Amino acid sequence: MQDKIHGKFQALFGGNGSVFASAGRINLIGEHTDYNGGYVFPGAIDCGIIAEIRLTGGNKVRAFSLDYNEYAEFGLTEADVPAPAWAKYIFGVCRETLKRGGRVEGFETVFAGDVPAGAGLSSSAALESTFAFALNELFRNGFDRFELARIGQATEHHYCGVKCGIMDQFASLFGQAGRLIRLDCQTLEYKYFPFHPDGYKLVLLDTCIKHELASSAYNRRRASCENAAAAIRQRHPEVAFLSDAKRLWLDEVRGEILQEDFLRAEYVIGEVQRVLDVCDALERDDYETVGEMMYQTHFGLSRLYEVSCEELDFLVRTARHCEVTGARVMGGGFGGCTLNLVREERLEGFLAAAQEQFSRRFGHAPKVYPVVISDGARQLA
Ligand code: GLA
Repeated sequence: MQDKIHGKFQALFGGNGSVFASAGRINLIGEHTDYNGGYVFPGAIDCGIIAEIRLTGGNKVRAFSLDYNEYAEFGLTEADVPAPAWAKYIFGVCRETLKRGGRVEGFETVFAGDVPAGAGLSSSAALESTFAFALNELFRNGFDRFELARIGQATEHHYCGVKCGIMDQFASLFGQAGRLIRLDCQTLEYKYFPFHPDGYKLVLLDTCIKHELASSAYNRRRASCENAAAAIRQRHPEVAFLSDAKRLWLDEVRGEILQEDFLRAEYVIGEVQRVLDVCDALERDDYETVGEMMYQTHFGLSRLYEVSCEELDFLVRTARHCEVTGARVMGGGFGGCTLNLVREERLEGFLAAAQEQFSRRFGHAPKVYPVVISDGARQLA
């Protein structure tokens, strides 16, 4: 990929630039907890974005996306928003860097990625993190990695219409090979956990379904959680985020909030506890418990949070039938992948059954991606 990028860079601009990369992510458990001040447990994966970049001075950005085979040119003021969706991410990162007092001037870039788009593996966070990290290095702005993650998150909020939490950008920037990271999204304390589940494999099955309006549905879930938290806060002022609430406190406000908001909050409160239970189980190498928690998360995401879909539920049911240790929808939901923790000796049988049964039902096979926990944002050359 780096060679193809460089070939295009030479053809378009001539000469060489510096090369930066960042990664997509998986999340073992802790879904839709980040914007609720809870825990997440992600890691970076071995697919991501690579960009070659050279500073030019002035205030024009010239960018070429190899994957979309499309060129965009834009300025750096708020009025200069480019038209292509992919360019808005780069523009947003420039603007958010400037808003924080960082320096950004013109540059030229060619970039490409191998994170499957729409699979829930955060190709957009990989793109934001690549450019946030690169601009920080090239302009010597001195932001720490958390600030770079916030730059990516604010790009989603202000230029892409998704009120996401911090998880994806955090994983993309802090990821390290062979390690998952538990992040407390309220205090931003984090801890690396070596993740080498002997005798098990982690695989993703991509439904190749991406539902329209996923971002507005995502924002509605977030609003529901905020409504529930606000109601609980009336009685328990210490509740800054929904993740601070006890289950009992949610029951107290049941009659005061929409049934829908109640169900969303019920899921979140359960999920925050599941992350801690999974960490305990990992410390004992008890992957069967980890897997059971994953199924519980799926149940919650499907029935209470309602971000699953027929295809995802089908894959999780198939996993259960094949005695897979754990399976669940991963990421924001509304399509995308299931994450599966599978005993090595069951892997082949499970994949064959999933491919065959899914194809028969939906007319196409799910894609299979093995998970390799890898490094996040870095400079390659
Ligand atoms: C998306 C968002 C994240 C997080 C997940 C759900 O990936 O970008 O911030 O909320 O959904 O866990």
